[in-house]
Amino acid sequence: MEILRHVVVLVHLVGFAILFGAWVVEAVNGKHQITRLMNWGLAIAGLAGLILAAPWGIDYDLNYAKIGVKLVILVIIGALLGIGAGRQRKTGSVPGAIFWSIGVLTFANAAIAVLWR
Ligand code: HEM
Repeated sequence: MEILRHVVVLVHLVGFAILFGAWVVEAVNGKHQITRLMNWGLAIAGLAGLILAAPWGIDYDLNYAKIGVKLVILVIIGALLGIGAGRQRKTGSVPGAIFWSIGVLTFANAAIAVLWR
């Protein structure tokens, strides 16, 4: 059970890496677009996160305040990806506030995961 949980944590981290990596590529190349990879990364991190939110394969209590905050931030990132993709379809570009918020909130969720003990 414990090893299976570690595998799901690994998948969770891969989702984070895909979402944040895809965002960094756009930030660095100056295009600032929403890409399909970002949606995939969010879906993978979110699904694995929900599986990890259940207390299995551990002998300590989960921090549900922290998990709740991460879930709220994930939903906000999802909304921003959706709104940003819509604006991109209509106007060809994503408002800067939406693009930068996606990266900052993704980084914030990773920081909360690692620093809030
Ligand atoms: C963009 C969204 C997210 C990012 C970037 C993210 C990032 C991370 C990272 C980096 C870790 C590893 C922390 C460590 O082991 O020290 C982690 C663990 C965890 N995450 Fe997330 N996360 C996200 C969304 C979620 C969501 C939505 C949930 C639950 C609803 C969730 C639940 C968890 C749990 C329970 C762990 C601990 C796993 C364990 O040690 O057993 N995460 N997350």
